[in-house]
Amino acid sequence: MTIEIIGTGRSIPPRRVSNQELADRIDTSDEWIRSHTGIGNRHIAEEGVAASDLGADAAREALLCAIDRGLVTEKTPEELALTVDLIVLSSATQDFFSHPATSCIVQHLLGAKNAAAMDITVACSGFIYGLETAAAMLKADFRRKRALVIGTEVLSRITNWDDRSNCILFGDGAGAVLIEKNDTSNQNAGQTGLLRTILGSDGSGWEYLILRRGGSRNPWKKGEVVEEVPAIAMNGQAVYNFAVGVITETLARIMKEENIALEDLALVIPHQANARIIQAAAKRLKIPEEKFYLNMEEYANTSSASIPIALDELNRSGKLKKGDLIITVGFGGGLTYGGNLIRW
Ligand code: UT7
Repeated sequence: MTIEIIGTGRSIPPRRVSNQELADRIDTSDEWIRSHTGIGNRHIAEEGVAASDLGADAAREALLCAIDRGLVTEKTPEELALTVDLIVLSSATQDFFSHPATSCIVQHLLGAKNAAAMDITVACSGFIYGLETAAAMLKADFRRKRALVIGTEVLSRITNWDDRSNCILFGDGAGAVLIEKNDTSNQNAGQTGLLRTILGSDGSGWEYLILRRGGSRNPWKKGEVVEEVPAIAMNGQAVYNFAVGVITETLARIMKEENIALEDLALVIPHQANARIIQAAAKRLKIPEEKFYLNMEEYANTSSASIPIALDELNRSGKLKKGDLIITVGFGGGLTYGGNLIRW
């Protein structure tokens, strides 16, 4: 039985905000942001555009991708959407607090009437967790065949644009993949698709990346005057250290346990938080930096969308070849982390 990625898609808001544009408003500079993070730009969603809008657009692109490549018999995204059994969506910026799940709104926007829909909230590790969740649920029931895995974020809505240590990091966007289960008795075919996933968490760091207001621990109170938009609060140094540690460990474990030599690895696709985090992990692992695909220069950190956006860029540009061995790796609020080993 294999779980293959048969379509990828992304949705990037057209409005592009450069470091210089931020530096015109707050006390920062293009030089500081680039040298400390590798970020050059970010894209910001227009007012009124929510996570479900970007998520549905990215998912539609993933459906179209599978059709265009002749990997399905359906001829339109609408027709193909009807064959989707499950939508797993990750977002730290869901359309609504608590419910409805943003995945349900995406299901409606796509007309994916036969799909179950669920959200997961593991922040930036969301795509990695989502892929494993969807794959496991397809494998669990022979009737389920296809799933959409979506990461979608409008982080600009929960960013404090006056906090220079924080607001320079984030951007908006969505990425999606369409996965398909194939039952096969062919031994060789059994070695493609999603091969292995590592997932983990360290709840002792729950305060390091947090949106403090609105939940049952700290609810809004009647009559309360809100002076500031609720924004991401972060202990940057603690998250940085955690990130370098878990990226290093996760990659080392996957490569050791799955017997992967460096020359067999085509690419690592990390969560696009900070180029320095990746450089530090690469150095510890003695993996050349060129093996890591980085696009934070253009999109900044789009949380759970960053890995599927990167996958879509690589897929469409032809940089991923059939048979390539790739590893996704990431970390996020919770704290959470993980990695997927995929043979393309
Ligand atoms: O998806 C997960 C999301 N989170 C992360 O990935 C965060 C991980 N952490 C980081 O990426 C880094 O910790 C940051 C990029 C957030 C910060 O970088 P840093 O090298 O750890 O900087 P710092 O916080 O130690 O600050 C160094 C200096 C400070 O000035 P002083 O006290 O030395 O005078 C800051 O006030 O840099 C200053 N600073 C800035 N200066 C110009 C902080 N932000 C800025 C800024 N522009 N935007």
